[in-house]
Amino acid sequence: MTDTRITIRRPDDWHLHLRDGAMLEGVAVHSAAHFARAIIMPNLVPPVVSGADAAAYRERIMAALPDGATFEPLMTLYLTETTDADDLAAAAASGLVTAVKLYPAGATTNSDSGVRNIDNVIPVLERMAEIGLPLCVHGEVTDPDVDIFDREAVFIETVLDPLRRRVPGLRVVMEHVTTGDGVDYALSGNDDLAATITTHHLMINRNHILAGGIRPHYYCLPVAKRERHRQALRAAAVSGEQKFFLGTDSAPHSVETKENACGCAGIFTATNTMSCLAHVFEQESALDRLEAFTSLNGPAFYRLPANEERISLVRGDSPVDYPPSIETGAGPVVVFDPGVTLYWRVEDLGERA
Ligand code: NCD
Ligand code: ZN
Repeated sequence: MTDTRITIRRPDDWHLHLRDGAMLEGVAVHSAAHFARAIIMPNLVPPVVSGADAAAYRERIMAALPDGATFEPLMTLYLTETTDADDLAAAAASGLVTAVKLYPAGATTNSDSGVRNIDNVIPVLERMAEIGLPLCVHGEVTDPDVDIFDREAVFIETVLDPLRRRVPGLRVVMEHVTTGDGVDYALSGNDDLAATITTHHLMINRNHILAGGIRPHYYCLPVAKRERHRQALRAAAVSGEQKFFLGTDSAPHSVETKENACGCAGIFTATNTMSCLAHVFEQESALDRLEAFTSLNGPAFYRLPANEERISLVRGDSPVDYPPSIETGAGPVVVFDPGVTLYWRVEDLGERA
């Protein structure tokens, strides 16, 4: 078989965890290899809450990148009930901060400083609506009485929809949608509403986590749902619709914290995301819409130019060679196992083409 090749604008990752310290040192190179820019999640310990925190974290990311890397971290602030609207507006005006992240307190990894009572952040959200600064939302309720598989749908109905009505003009990204309900709600909104979809939610459903043994490396939040939801996500991702774009949610945790009686949530996909996505889009006969999902729709929502550089995805005869895990100073991190053999490899074309 001869190689099949598609060439697309260099992709961006609109939801990424780079961590800090030794983990950052170990993982940054993997995102920088394929992606031009990424929205950097602020859920460090302690979280990135002020413009000064974001500036310092940005410096640490730049220092962790390999020489010659052109990767641009797009910084976010972690919204708390004491966020200072003036500090936030100044960080946005200077170009330092691209978005603000809303974590309901307790919803996921390092979300303890998140929002307990939405009423307390309304003035900040109104300011964001005024200046057009997007709010990235982790859309799950934390009520222990709500089943974990229903938490996204309940959040949309009881938190997100009322919030959007209360703060008209607020630009919202529904982060890592995992359900048909999420897809439908995103589609029901105007241009102020978009949604990211992860690589892994296009490839696994909840059986992958739980059937035939518990597989901690498939555990992330929001947790993967049933097959019909995965199908809804695939349809949305390959549709070309502007509202949907890639946010890998690549979230490295060391092996020992994943393979644990209380394992951490998060899947590390930075290494093989583009190979996985080409596989998915090929399966869906939609390779011509991969570029919209990875390289066009995100910049359009964030009002940034699309990247000028190109990459090619080349389907060869032999499987793509990537390590099952990577070494970091914070311990080994397992790379997402898509459960299928991948044949699409990335070729960097730089400014050529
Ligand atoms: C993320 C992490 O590990 O920081 N985990 C995850 O399962 N996705 C947090 C998040 O985005 O929910
Ligand atoms: Zn995340």
